[in-house]
Amino acid sequence: MDGIEKRLHTCMADTDHDREVSEIDLLSPLTIRGITFRNRIGVSPMCQYSSEEGYANDWHLVHLGSRAAGGAALVMVEATAVTKEGRITAKDMGIWEDKHIEPLARIARFISSQGAVPGIQLAHAGRKASCDVPWKGGARLQAHEGGWSTRAPSAISFNETDPLPQALDEAGIESLVEAFKAAARRALAAGFQVIEIHAAHGYLLHEFLSPLSNKRNDQYGGSLENRMRLPLSIAQSLRELIPDNLPLFMRISATDWVEGGWDINQSIILAKHLKQVGVDLIDVSSGGMVPKAHIPVGKGYQVPFATQISEQAEIATAAVGLITEVQEANEIITKGYADFVFLGREFLREPYWTVKAYQDLREEPYWPTQYGYAVKRRAKRSSEL
Ligand SMILES: Cc1cc2nc3c(=O)[nH]c(=O)nc-3n(C[C@H](O)[C@H](O)[C@H](O)COP(=O)(O)O)c2cc1C
Repeated sequence: MDGIEKRLHTCMADTDHDREVSEIDLLSPLTIRGITFRNRIGVSPMCQYSSEEGYANDWHLVHLGSRAAGGAALVMVEATAVTKEGRITAKDMGIWEDKHIEPLARIARFISSQGAVPGIQLAHAGRKASCDVPWKGGARLQAHEGGWSTRAPSAISFNETDPLPQALDEAGIESLVEAFKAAARRALAAGFQVIEIHAAHGYLLHEFLSPLSNKRNDQYGGSLENRMRLPLSIAQSLRELIPDNLPLFMRISATDWVEGGWDINQSIILAKHLKQVGVDLIDVSSGGMVPKAHIPVGKGYQVPFATQISEQAEIATAAVGLITEVQEANEIITKGYADFVFLGREFLREPYWTVKAYQDLREEPYWPTQYGYAVKRRAKRSSEL
């Protein structure tokens, strides 16, 4: 719990019924290291598949900027590829070159100007790279369709019909760590104040963690310790270069939802190690490792994983996944189930969801200056404005 003020201490009871409700709610600020988030509402990273050669553009500025103007505390830029071949699609955001910095900096500046904290998720898609955009079906591309060769811990494909990925050798692993470091330096140069490492959803770092995709017999495969080695080493390397006052997050899939795969117990052990190397928050998602997992999708279905990780590894967590209602989101915080709530699709439906949260919880929203003086004078005649 180091560096986290107002952390909830209400997590000891076993059942909902016994849980104490804290005074901290969805709208309470949260400080992690030197960064204060104005409330507990974060915009979950969401690929827009709208970049050319990895560049951020006006779409990303408006998309992310509107959620910042809407009052979210953290606005996280989508999975941003640390190498060109680490993109899910050719339209992914990227940060593998210095030239990517300035368009991203414009976005970070705007998010900050609205009182939100700009975050960025650094990613490598591993064996799930080289796809078409989802609105064209999202299929893995063959070479003649513009596909490229993919990388993974082992030469095992995601779908049987996919081209086999290339198993990374030691030199490839070392250059990947360097790519994450270079990407993090660029993200800091662009003004991002939260860096999140993407180790979820069946992408490269999750592929190293899971025994289903990692069949290596070197120091990066086999035992849990070996499978955790690369994600931990990347986290440690980034922590060393990120200033002390800025938080480092990691998104994980708490479980593969498959017998014999990655699971919550391994996630708790990983979270304990991540805490030791200076990761501040675990963003707790699930799944994505195999095409046919049976996932009991439902309202807030991943929240219990965030709670287990925060209780047992004593690290801050973000809950995400089918959280749509203000009261549900508020309860996650007041009951101490997680420290932060991230919303994805609900923010696509309603960029101003945070305004609704303030109104439902009877507090004055953070209006942008340009709107605030006008909307607060609702009773007056429009001709006076
Ligand atoms: C359009 C879209 C793009 C997404 N892209 C990412 C991404 O870049 N990185 C990531 O970790 N998760 C990504 N996700 C998952 C979301 O961040 C979120 O975890 C998921 O949608 C569940 O939350 P929700 O039910 O609030 O949408 C994406 C989801 C959607 C709908």
